[in-house]
Amino acid sequence: MNEAKKIQSERFNSLASDWSNSDEAIRQAEKAVSVLGIQSRQSLLDVASGTGVILHALKQLQISPGHYLAMDISSAMLEKLHTAFPEAETACADFEQPFTCQRGFDYLLIYNSIPHFSDLDMLFTNAKRSLLPGGTFMIAHSRTRQGLKEHHQRIGYISERAPIPADEELALLAGKYDFDQLSFADEEFFCFTCRSKG
Ligand SMILES: C[S@@+](CC[C@H](N)C(=O)[O-])C[C@H]1O[C@@H](n2cnc3c(N)ncnc32)[C@H](O)[C@@H]1O
Repeated sequence: MNEAKKIQSERFNSLASDWSNSDEAIRQAEKAVSVLGIQSRQSLLDVASGTGVILHALKQLQISPGHYLAMDISSAMLEKLHTAFPEAETACADFEQPFTCQRGFDYLLIYNSIPHFSDLDMLFTNAKRSLLPGGTFMIAHSRTRQGLKEHHQRIGYISERAPIPADEELALLAGKYDFDQLSFADEEFFCFTCRSKG
């Protein structure tokens, strides 16, 4: 792990104990999961899972994935996830480094976490590698681009780059890494999906 990522994982480790999955946060996550379209028995790689808001949403929606893996750079976030969902498989790893998993997934979701990723080529490389042919890659955020910008202004956060990449950049990356069936939405919340070509 490089120095910047080490600092980031330590920062999230220190935030984990107070990280609450409020009813509102779970309700928002349910919307992303519904758009994702996952059904019981299908498989999901939950990248940058944090403390498990997506698992809470799946539970609320009564969806039981056949295989679920939560991966995050922060061990403390994953420990907290494990307390709520002891049966969940977890992997503490940096998704901006080459990532290999034993078997491919039907779905890969990165939720509320895209602003923390800078190496988008590695993100798409890992997504391509982790998905089964025909699998769906979704990047979603509970806020819209504009909503996130206003939120960052309110908290005095200055970002060197767009926290959510532009549609044009996502489209270029999707083409480069052999994804098709792209869709973009940024009205109620931000959501980008694409399908790994077979
Ligand atoms: C804002 S939190 C969101 C967590 C969760 N998805 C949620 O919505 O509650 C961002 C998460 O991204 C994780 N993260 C940041 N960079 C990462 C990386 N390179 N690989 C894996 N996880 C990463 C952090 O540890 C943190 O848990």
